[in-house]
Amino acid sequence: MTPDNEQYSNINNEAIPCSVSGGESDQSLLSDDTMSVCSQTSSSNKYEGLIVASHVGYKKVLVTGGAGFVGSSVAEALLARGDDVVIVDEMNDYYDVRLKENNLNRLREMYPESTGRLVIYRGDICDEALMHSLFDKERPQWICHLAARAGVRPSIQDPYIYIQSNIVGTVLLMELAHKFGVQNFVFASSSSVYGGSKSTYFSEEENVDNPVSPYAATKKACELLAYTYHHLYKLNVSALRFFTVYGPRGRPDMAPFKFVDRISRGLEIQKFGDGTSSRDYTYISDIVDGVLRSIDRPYPYQVFNLGKGDGTSLNEFISIVEKHTGKAAVVRQLPDQAGDVPYTCASVEKAKILLGYEATVSFDEGIRKTVEWYNSSRKNAVPITPETQANGLGRSPSFVEFMPQQQHAAAIIMK
Ligand SMILES: NC(=O)c1ccc[n+]([C@@H]2O[C@H](COP(=O)([O-])OP(=O)(O)OC[C@H]3O[C@@H](n4cnc5c(N)ncnc54)[C@H](O)[C@@H]3O)[C@@H](O)[C@H]2O)c1
Repeated sequence: MTPDNEQYSNINNEAIPCSVSGGESDQSLLSDDTMSVCSQTSSSNKYEGLIVASHVGYKKVLVTGGAGFVGSSVAEALLARGDDVVIVDEMNDYYDVRLKENNLNRLREMYPESTGRLVIYRGDICDEALMHSLFDKERPQWICHLAARAGVRPSIQDPYIYIQSNIVGTVLLMELAHKFGVQNFVFASSSSVYGGSKSTYFSEEENVDNPVSPYAATKKACELLAYTYHHLYKLNVSALRFFTVYGPRGRPDMAPFKFVDRISRGLEIQKFGDGTSSRDYTYISDIVDGVLRSIDRPYPYQVFNLGKGDGTSLNEFISIVEKHTGKAAVVRQLPDQAGDVPYTCASVEKAKILLGYEATVSFDEGIRKTVEWYNSSRKNAVPITPETQANGLGRSPSFVEFMPQQQHAAAIIMK
C-alpha cells in the first residue's frame, strides 16, 4: 500500500462546486468567500494552479456497484494494472441479476479470490453495520462509488428507492470515508443533472438546479453533500458526470444495448420523438480511463464531465446500428417520454486539463465493437425468465421478447 498524505500536502486549495455558481437564487446560497473563488475559476486560466499530480503505485480500491456495467469494467481495469479491489454490490434486480453474476464470475475467473486481490461483499451500501465492518476489515484508502439506482424513467415511478440508495448510501460512505481517513472519494454523478440545458456543450460551471427527474435530483444532491464533506472534513472528493455509457456487457435497459439486441433479432424498436434528439454516447473504455484518472488524482473537490464531447442523433444512431448489424430496423414511433432530456453533449475541457482525459472511441467504432461482442455472446445465449424490477415496477419490454406460447420470456445471458 502507498499511503502518503505528504504527497498531497500541496492540494488544500479548496475548489468549490461551480455547478452552483449560476443564477441569482444560487448566489444567495453562497458566502462571499465561495463566490470569489467561483468567479476566479471562470477566467481563461480558470484551472491554473488546480492541477493535482497523479498518485502512482499500489492502491486498494473499494468499488461499490462492482457487479454492474461500469463497476465491473472499472474493477477489471484496476486489477489489470496491479491494484487490489474490494467490491460491494447488493445484486438488486433492476435488471437481470444473472448479468451481474456473470460480471462477477468473469472477474473471479481472472483473479481468483484465493489470490486475495479481489474481495466481493454482497450487501446494501445503506447497511451501516455491514459497511462499517467492511471498512474496518479492508481499510480501503481509495473509494470508487458507483453503486446507485440508475435509470431516469423508473425513478419517476419509485423515487423513494432512488433517494435511499443514491443519497442515503452516498452519505453513509462519505461518513465512513471521513472516519477511516480515505485519500480519495470518487463517485458517479450523471449528465442528467443538466436537465433541459440549452447549451451546446454542457459545462461543469452551468447551473444545474433544475433536475427533471428524481434520479437527476439524487445525483445533484450527492454533489452538494460531497461538497459539504469536503468542506467539513477535507475529504478529497470528485463527482464524475457520465454521459450515456455503452459497450460490451452494457446495461440492458439502455438504448444502445436494446437497439443492438432488437435490430439484430429483427424485433421492433421504440423510437421516442422524431429522432432529432441527440445524445453524447461514451464508450465504456473511455469512461473507465476517466474514472481511473480521477481515482489517481485526489482533487479536494471537483465535478468532471466524462463524455465523448459530441452528440449523435437518434436517427443517426439507428442507422449506425443497422450498418453494423446488417439488418433494417423495424421502428415504432412514440411520443417523447417524461423525464428524458432531448439533448446532451459534454464539454470535456476541464477533464482534459485536470485529468488528462480524452475520449478516443467514435460512436461508429463503439457500436461496431458492441455488435461484435453481442454476436459472440449470443453463441452462448441461454433462455432465462423475464427480468423483474424492484418493487414490481414494469420493465421496458425492449430487451425481452415475450412469447405468448410460453410462460417465460426469452432473453440472453452469457455463460
Ligand atoms: N451507464 C450510464 O450510462 C450512466 C450514466 C450516468 C451515470 N451513471 C452512474 O454510473 C454508476 C454505474 O452505472 P451502471 O450503468 O454501471 O449501472 P448498473 O446498474 O449496471 O450498476 C450499479 C450497481 O450498483 C448496485 N447497487 C445499486 N444500489 C445498491 C445498494 N444500495 N447497495 C449496493 N449495491 C447497489 C446494483 O446492484 C448494480 O450492480 C451509477 O451510479 C449510475 O447512476 C451511469
